[in-house]
Amino acid sequence: LFAGVALAPRDPILGLNEAFNADTRATKVNLGVGVYFDANGKLPLLAAVKEAEKARLAAQPPRGYQPIEGNGAYNQAVQKLLFGADSELLAAGRVVTAQALGGTGALKIGADFLKGLNADAKVYISDPSWENHRALFEAAGFVVENYPYYDAATRGVDFAAMKVFLAGLPAGSVIVLHACCHNPTGADLSDEEWGEVVELCRERGLVPFLDMAYQGFAEGISEDAVAVRLFSASGLQFFVSSSFSKSFSMYGERVGALSIVTADRDESARVLSQVKRVIRTNYSNPPIHGAAVVGAVLASSELCAMWEEELAGMRLRIRAMREGLVGALKEKGVAQDFSFVTRQRGMFSYTGLAAAQVDVLRGEFGIYAVSTGRICLAALNEGNLGYVADAIASIVKA
Ligand code: LMR
Repeated sequence: LFAGVALAPRDPILGLNEAFNADTRATKVNLGVGVYFDANGKLPLLAAVKEAEKARLAAQPPRGYQPIEGNGAYNQAVQKLLFGADSELLAAGRVVTAQALGGTGALKIGADFLKGLNADAKVYISDPSWENHRALFEAAGFVVENYPYYDAATRGVDFAAMKVFLAGLPAGSVIVLHACCHNPTGADLSDEEWGEVVELCRERGLVPFLDMAYQGFAEGISEDAVAVRLFSASGLQFFVSSSFSKSFSMYGERVGALSIVTADRDESARVLSQVKRVIRTNYSNPPIHGAAVVGAVLASSELCAMWEEELAGMRLRIRAMREGLVGALKEKGVAQDFSFVTRQRGMFSYTGLAAAQVDVLRGEFGIYAVSTGRICLAALNEGNLGYVADAIASIVKA
């Protein structure tokens, strides 16, 4: 049965963890996967999460099946974070939200549902995009192509090229957009540019699918929701996948959600019924714990304030690491201007390092990065920053 099974390549991101874990060098540094480590290099368990878990442990809740679409209170809390507590869409019953297995799970439910709606539509992802976007939409049966996005010369977005491309797409095309903290480049659209994208989607009849895995890592929770808010005001129908993996440091609990904006309450009921079928035939219903914890934090003004402070701490520490890396590279005599690192937003820097340089980083220094040159700044700390800067300096000066 399995004699002809070919060995699949390692996952370009999570596969790095496997290689990193097998590396025995004490000085190794994992800048591959998008995970936030604290100033001591530890994966934090947030104080707000600890409090909510303490309360859950004391209450000893039973473990029955959840509704297919997950925890209702959690889903409502997700909606408020994404669309705003006073959202007219929410009041009008125009948003359907289902708890999902992280942001990836949300994308997959959305992709499967979309495939049933319009099997012939193509999916367009940014060039470049998160490695898993293409694989995930292809696995759902779509043809996936790129739209122009990153401009290596300016280290920003080639918005003119992006607009021209989007304006030429047929109606019904699915456009996957990074709502904030673009992964992997850290180059985001300005608010004005988002406004233009919204207009283009309306004019061309495109289907926007916003991926929001880093809310709170650029400027703040509501600031980072600009794209969602602009699409909300447009009257369009669209998808949002969201995740608490990073913002709650709950990676392994797989806490995310898929939200779909519909035309009206009646449509919402029909859309939800179909989304539930997708979920039921995949994993029946989602797990309890992570969503219950996030829901409890968001429902308590005290815990929510605690979480927002902790999230701000993560955001500011990453910014400090950006500054630190740029400063250290300069100090080490690197002539190339790395100041773009401080303009990028979110966890990542698209360093411009070539795949061969990334190989040297790993082979000679035990520093792991994605082969595209993406590094995760959130894994830097005072203890490893000098070592990483030395390594990068030796490579770019070579
Ligand atoms: C990343 O891009 O590193 C994260 O989103 C983790 C993942 O699932 O790839």
